[in-house]
Amino acid sequence: MNTITLLQPDDWHAHLRDGPALQRTVPDLANQFARAICMPNLVPPVKTVEEANAYRERILAHVPEGVHFDPRMVLYLTNNTAPSEVLKIKQSDYVNAIKLYPAGATTNSDSGVSDISKVYGVIEQLEEHQVPLLLHGEVTHNHVDIFDREKRFLDEVLSPLLRQFPKLKLVLEHITTSEAAHFVLEHDRHVAATITPQHLLFNRNDMLVGGIKPHFYCLPILKRQTHQQTLLEVATSGSPKFFLGTDSAPHSKDAKENACGCAGCYSAPTAIELYAQAFDQVGKIERLEGFASHFGADFYGLPRNTNTITLVKEDQVIPESLDYLDGEKIIPLHAGKTIQWRKV
Ligand code: NCD
Ligand code: ZN
Repeated sequence: MNTITLLQPDDWHAHLRDGPALQRTVPDLANQFARAICMPNLVPPVKTVEEANAYRERILAHVPEGVHFDPRMVLYLTNNTAPSEVLKIKQSDYVNAIKLYPAGATTNSDSGVSDISKVYGVIEQLEEHQVPLLLHGEVTHNHVDIFDREKRFLDEVLSPLLRQFPKLKLVLEHITTSEAAHFVLEHDRHVAATITPQHLLFNRNDMLVGGIKPHFYCLPILKRQTHQQTLLEVATSGSPKFFLGTDSAPHSKDAKENACGCAGCYSAPTAIELYAQAFDQVGKIERLEGFASHFGADFYGLPRNTNTITLVKEDQVIPESLDYLDGEKIIPLHAGKTIQWRKV
């Protein structure tokens, strides 16, 4: 198959940042996706429906003329979030979920939750109103090896949480291990996961063999190849529990190529082509549409898009770098490399 047409995809996990960064990030994302879940880990974080609506307006101001883009918003769960905020989410036109960052787990997570039992009041409301809880699924204790943090989160945090709140609707974001994939499969339709392009296309060898490649560094960190294979299997399986979430996370070139480099891969400009590459590499390009354009909308209870996009099997070289902020650069995921798919 050299040309495929699919319903326009949505991105159920993206970081757009704020201020001047939006000049880069919003057009890149809006040229690919009809909707995106816009992550709330700004400084300070987006904590209320009111703040989310204001952030949404700042995003909309950067959507290019003639492009339709519908930012879907998420609140940042803190130890102090009021349980009454959940009903406001339920009644909101633009906010679809709340995100749990364990404190210290990733970029801008200092305001995150220090102990999940502190937010049980909010979680009770989420379960009651069937508002999705989005999870950065890693424990943060210093003594836990970085490659084991996702699995430990499943055992120590998520399993007990689901025993306590069995009907909780949740998305395990950016899964990276076969344990997480199986965890999602073993639970009912309320439990779903997003998968990024980097975790489908790469593994930790790509990041560490032959020199450290900071542009592959994201959290949760790339794992060994066997995990990559399981992620490819479940993403291309046709299971509606797994859907597209790029976790496109911009950091300037200087912040990445640094003695203490930031976590995050910027995939937005060619995201759907990167996914096409991954699906095609395992002979499953026909499964891309469900993963990219159906299952996420279905999970969130939103209508599927009706317009289509077309991808052709034609080489494209991902740019070496792009302009970012005032005079800085950003290095996109797989920069300078050739992929076989192109969006027309
Ligand atoms: C994200 C970021 O930069 O905001 N970084 C990342 O490595 N994925 C945060 C996140 O989703 O963990
Ligand atoms: Zn993210």
